[in-house]
Amino acid sequence: MAASDQRSVAIVTGGARGIGRACAKALAGAGFDIALVDLLRPELDRTAGEIRELGREVMTFEADVSSFVDAQDIARKVVAQFGQIDVLVNNAGRSMPKGILEISEEEFDRTLAINLKSCFNYIRAVAPVMLEQGGGRIISMSSLNAHSGGVTAAVSRFAYASAKAGIIGMTKALAKELGPSILVNAVCPGVIETELGNTLTRERGAALAEAGISLRRMGKPEDVAQTVLFLANSKPCFITGQALIVDGFQYHI
Ligand SMILES: NC(=O)c1ccc[n+]([C@@H]2O[C@H](COP(=O)([O-])OP(=O)(O)OC[C@H]3O[C@@H](n4cnc5c(N)ncnc54)[C@H](O)[C@@H]3O)[C@@H](O)[C@H]2O)c1
Repeated sequence: MAASDQRSVAIVTGGARGIGRACAKALAGAGFDIALVDLLRPELDRTAGEIRELGREVMTFEADVSSFVDAQDIARKVVAQFGQIDVLVNNAGRSMPKGILEISEEEFDRTLAINLKSCFNYIRAVAPVMLEQGGGRIISMSSLNAHSGGVTAAVSRFAYASAKAGIIGMTKALAKELGPSILVNAVCPGVIETELGNTLTRERGAALAEAGISLRRMGKPEDVAQTVLFLANSKPCFITGQALIVDGFQYHI
């Protein structure tokens, strides 16, 4: 998609740090101009600086992905500035390490809003633009938790797993609805060394890697970013409606 004489544009939510930052930098390295959406202003500015150093243009939006109105507004501003939206990476997410007997209704709703409704918000905002342009790619960050139900007492539990499983259903349905011009996929990382993954990393990451990951290490943000880049940029591409697990084959889950 990205070609030297032709602009390509990607929106990355939760792009200020962690996996989102790695995705944004990988896409920028492949020639994409980037719009970053995140809550964290200092981290947004740092990542934006890194993208500019790669020679690409960047817009930053300090916004909460659970806001439908903000998503519409951001998509409009990106089109006004960059003229198009070729790729959407729905990456923003947050864990909720509470069990069914501890969680409040508000906490459940908020977890679904940040991890699942956010994907609806941004797909609803960019799909008309992509259809008008004649195509695009949408990649949403699910999790291995969607398949496994999560690691007991670790960073995330059933509310997060519910949201991440919802992303897979949304992905498959929208791959049908938005095809053939828009390819819609999900990525399901295993244990990745980031802020969000830190609790698990500190507590039992090394032991888990030794005992239950075929590649004998935890993942890095760049491992996920290369998968996202492939789904965003490979040409031709005959992959849509998939939830691709990126976990070094974690077999004790
Ligand atoms: N780290 C892992 O082990 C792991 C595993 C599976 C899936 N994931 C998923 O990958 C994605 C990125 O996770 P990460 O590990 O890089 O986490 P992270 O906490 O390092 O980064 C998440 C980013 O999303 C932003 N964000 C959170 N809530 C937001 C909101 N409401 N509005 C806007 N931005 C918001 C944060 O500010 C942060 O910059 C998440 O969707 C996460 O669920 C992570």
